[in-house]
Amino acid sequence: MSRIVYVNGSYLPEEEATVSIFDRGFIFGDGIYEVSAVIAGKLVDCEAHLARLERSCGEIRLSLPWSKEELVAIHEELIRRNALDEGSIYLQVSRGACDRDFPFPKDVKPTLVMFTQARNFVNAPAAKTGIKVVSTPDLRWARRDIKSVNLLAPVLAKQIAAEAGAQEAWMVEDGVVTEGASSTAWIVKGKTLISRPLSHKVLPGITRKAVLAFLAESDFSFEEREFTLDEALDAEEAFITSATSMVMPVTSIDGHSIHNGAPGPATLRLRELYIAHARQGGALG
Ligand code: PDD
Repeated sequence: MSRIVYVNGSYLPEEEATVSIFDRGFIFGDGIYEVSAVIAGKLVDCEAHLARLERSCGEIRLSLPWSKEELVAIHEELIRRNALDEGSIYLQVSRGACDRDFPFPKDVKPTLVMFTQARNFVNAPAAKTGIKVVSTPDLRWARRDIKSVNLLAPVLAKQIAAEAGAQEAWMVEDGVVTEGASSTAWIVKGKTLISRPLSHKVLPGITRKAVLAFLAESDFSFEEREFTLDEALDAEEAFITSATSMVMPVTSIDGHSIHNGAPGPATLRLRELYIAHARQGGALG
């Protein structure tokens, strides 16, 4: 069955949805995206994703002609029209379509595209086995805090991972792990979770924020600092977070087993707590 997608004000079957070849998202990668999860038919932490969207757009001086309420309504309409119980919603906004020229165009309306992907997050088989990660140099630009559609470096990193039989790449710069190609990287020592501070070097993960918000009610503590690849290889546990992987155990890094190749107890507990948070639609602002 074909999906119903959203393009510039219209809900259309996916085969009929088109964007101009002059769209600046296509020509320059001049656009921003978001990926939100849907669990049990409900959006997870939608407010926080839309706040990050607004921030990213502000950083590239793209003013959004849609209010938060309008964007939430489109998300909800797509869930309804596609009877989406579990999966993700992809949103992309670009600076619009016009003849190719680098500076911002005048009087051009941004392009807004949204579509759903039905996927199994809660019962993802990978959560039982853990995933394999390979390390690769971080080839990205200097403003990774902006969720830009320029994803060539992560595409290349994920392809290297796929060719090595791994599901995620951890990008390394100056000896430290920056983040996953499409996730936040964490390691665990005892009851201490370690992940690097936010800066221009990483995307501020909404799932990271959610995990930190419920840590207060758990017996885990958080050490916000950089870690090296060697430290990760020696860690008791490792995991990634993202809207689509939730909290996902990492059981191998560069072919080296983590926690004897099985998901560890801290990661599994955090995953359980996150799923409970997500089932309620999340509560982040
Ligand atoms: N990626 N870091 C990077 C580079 C990411 O692309 C993502 C998300 C994250 C985690 O962010 P969040 O917890 O808000 O999903 C961290 C999405 C899922 C993607 O590109 O598909």
